[in-house]
Amino acid sequence: MKEKVIIGCDHGAFELKEKIKKFLAGSGYSVSDAGVYNEERADYPDIAEKACGEFLSGGYAFGILCCGTGIGISIAANKINGIRCALLHDLYTAEMSKAHNNANFIAFGGRVSYADPVESMIMKFIKTEYEGGRHEGRLQKISSLEHHL
Ligand code: RB5
Repeated sequence: MKEKVIIGCDHGAFELKEKIKKFLAGSGYSVSDAGVYNEERADYPDIAEKACGEFLSGGYAFGILCCGTGIGISIAANKINGIRCALLHDLYTAEMSKAHNNANFIAFGGRVSYADPVESMIMKFIKTEYEGGRHEGRLQKISSLEHHL
């Protein structure tokens, strides 16, 4: 069965989201699109909420969020319990976001120029395994921050 991925973006990354969808579909993934569906202005927290809610309903391997910089939408996603959204910059951060942080979302900016192609960063994230071990306690500490007052 095809692995499922959820993707969402605001107007600042519509083109990038469409490009990523094509790439993932061509790589054998089943992609669910949480919007936006055109370049009309949208608020990235709404898309983060929708995509993360869908992810948490179950059955998804991971999620991808994009806005102009990737910053706003990743900040919004990380407010939601259970979400670890990593804003990737290059192949190194793509690898570490899985190996050390076991991110369940990755984020990109549609207006950002990356030295490494976004497709390569996605594949690096997919192919890397979470190392567990000493990182597990740190992830548990992140989870406990969800209850911080
Ligand atoms: C929208 O203009 C822009 O602010 C948004 O896409 C994102 O870059 C925010 O972090």
